[in-house]
Amino acid sequence: MELWERSATLELLDGLLGECARGGGRVAVVAGEAGIGKSVLVNEFARRCGARARVLWGGCDRLVTPRALGPLHDIGRQTGGVLAERLGAGAAQEEIFAASLEELSGATGAPVELAGATRGSVAMSGPEAVGGSVAAGGRAAAGGSAVVNWSGAANWSASVAPTRRVPPVVVVEDAHWADEATLDWLVWLGRRIGRLPALLVVTYRDDEVGAEHPIRGALAALPSAIVRRVRLRPLSYGCVTELVRRAGRDPATVHRLTGGNPLLVTELLASEGPAVPATVQDLILDRLCSLPEPARELARLVSVLPTRADAAVVAGAADLVETCVDAGVLVPSGDGVAFRHELLRSAVEESLSPARRAAAHRRVLGVLARTPGVDPGRLVHHALNARDEAAVLRYGQLAGIGAARQGAHREAAAHYRAAVEHAGGLPAERRAELLEAYAEQAYLAGLAEEALRARQAALELREAEGRAGPVGENLRWISRLAWWAGRREQAWEAAARLVTVLEDGDPQLAMAYSNQSQLHMAAHHLDEAVAWGERARELADRLGDVAASVHAEINVSTARLVRGKAGAPAALRAAHERAEAAGLADHAARALVVLATGPVQLAEYGVAAARSKRPWPTPPAATSTAMFSTCSACGPWCGWRAATGTARWPTPRRRWPSR
Ligand SMILES: Nc1ncnc2c1ncn2[C@@H]1O[C@H](COP(=O)(O)OP(=O)(O)OP(=O)(O)O)[C@@H](O)[C@H]1O
Ligand SMILES: [Mg+2]
Repeated sequence: MELWERSATLELLDGLLGECARGGGRVAVVAGEAGIGKSVLVNEFARRCGARARVLWGGCDRLVTPRALGPLHDIGRQTGGVLAERLGAGAAQEEIFAASLEELSGATGAPVELAGATRGSVAMSGPEAVGGSVAAGGRAAAGGSAVVNWSGAANWSASVAPTRRVPPVVVVEDAHWADEATLDWLVWLGRRIGRLPALLVVTYRDDEVGAEHPIRGALAALPSAIVRRVRLRPLSYGCVTELVRRAGRDPATVHRLTGGNPLLVTELLASEGPAVPATVQDLILDRLCSLPEPARELARLVSVLPTRADAAVVAGAADLVETCVDAGVLVPSGDGVAFRHELLRSAVEESLSPARRAAAHRRVLGVLARTPGVDPGRLVHHALNARDEAAVLRYGQLAGIGAARQGAHREAAAHYRAAVEHAGGLPAERRAELLEAYAEQAYLAGLAEEALRARQAALELREAEGRAGPVGENLRWISRLAWWAGRREQAWEAAARLVTVLEDGDPQLAMAYSNQSQLHMAAHHLDEAVAWGERARELADRLGDVAASVHAEINVSTARLVRGKAGAPAALRAAHERAEAAGLADHAARALVVLATGPVQLAEYGVAAARSKRPWPTPPAATSTAMFSTCSACGPWCGWRAATGTARWPTPRRRWPSR
């Protein structure tokens, strides 16, 4: 297809690839509204790369809750090898990330896989000659008629498989829909890619992400020296005028209706008749009307599947698929079919009546639930839209467990949230367990209020059960979360109840004391913090409770640090090491946070800055983002984030609890 007004951007990407080939990895961030041409741009770039690069594709989908590490799963299917193996084995996040790096580092000498081959191969008309010339009027001539969605491009790039050493180009499409773990990976990879001969290309809709959207923090955390940002502009009035004149339409009207958005321009020009349809929805529904009813029904079914419909969904309907493809309503995509554009798909889905929409989701759910290898997050999406409560509960729990394991805590919390809402029929103990798992993920995602509500609901169930242990566990969390949420009274009340609920000799009693110490420490009652902390540590050591002992040590040392005691930093370092050795990620991280932010609290910026230059251990992934967001106390001092290196630090949301 002919690409309008994108030759400068293609040249820029080409230049970045050249820099990568010379040894220094680069990141290109391509932004712009829906339909502006991000996907066709990267597809054309991939086509032009030809044998000069190995292009790997990953895409994010618009699901109610995104698939955990969705793009990496796409990429793993193309690379095979250790990455696919780690993903398939459900390995922990760090192992999967390491495998991706291994894949990219070794990829320069590897024979190129048929990218997208595992998605099934769709007949394509490419490849065309590589390296299209730049046509007059600033348009890049890109011959051929390949399908211009990302899976299609994968097939195309595969067909020019290189045999010599080439740099990998990793394309991650639609990152505005990325799950938390994928954003972590993007930052993780972005911070290392400078040392690889590799290019990372990320596309996203910048007009749909507000100031608080997590992608903003992720993009900000990429090393700016190797990042190039490109914002795609609408087509100029001159370009629209020329195109419209060719089609015998009124340029002013077309430009006014489309704002120069290439998708809308293309759709308008493809529509028949003199009247210009007012919206894309009119456009696509108009096109649907030309189909016989069974084909229209198939298109409606496909419309409820974000991104594309799997082969299994359209199995047995080859004739109807062909009718839709011939009418330009659907295009082949991977092993299935898709709408030509996400906007068109959602326009059709939104046009369905609620009952019809739910029925379509139910049908899709039935098929996908029987299809091996489907991400449970996708099943939750269809179950929710089908209003199938039992399925939401079943797949919500499964998806929550999977997302949590991969470090996508925000998504894990969302899945559990959905499951909890439909858990009324579960026995009380199972419901309490579900609420506790939900609360843990919400806490790790920094959603203190939400975690607090879940803990309170769990507490009620546990109280009815009458077992002190689980009651105590929830009370302790309520105390901590209530403090974070700014509800001091509730925090103190829960802490006091916790100590009375647990009998003498209860294994949790040491942690209950330490919780008191922590509250006092946070409230700047330093004497009480030390007294409760020492009592906790003494009991914990007697009971062999390492977690409580380390927790108490951190509280005591923090109080001493604030008092300016010389040995406090060393004690915190020792506590960190002890916690890490015992696999207590959260406690280990807390020690680090105190070490890093303590001097800032005391306004000792010189000490803080010096500390930030030391090599810091990697903060564990399974740690609450809310805890790290205490970094907002640093104000202008952000060296610690940079010094700690690998983690994606969240946009600060809350301040260090005031004392
Ligand atoms: N520069 C261009 N020249 C010609 N046609 C274009 C251009 N850019 C986009 N189009 C047309 O617009 C359609 C939508 O483009 P594309 O899918 O790349 O948009 P997008 O920015 O990726 O949107 P989304 O955010 O929804 O993924 C293309 O299929 C193509 O028909
Ligand atoms: Mg796109």
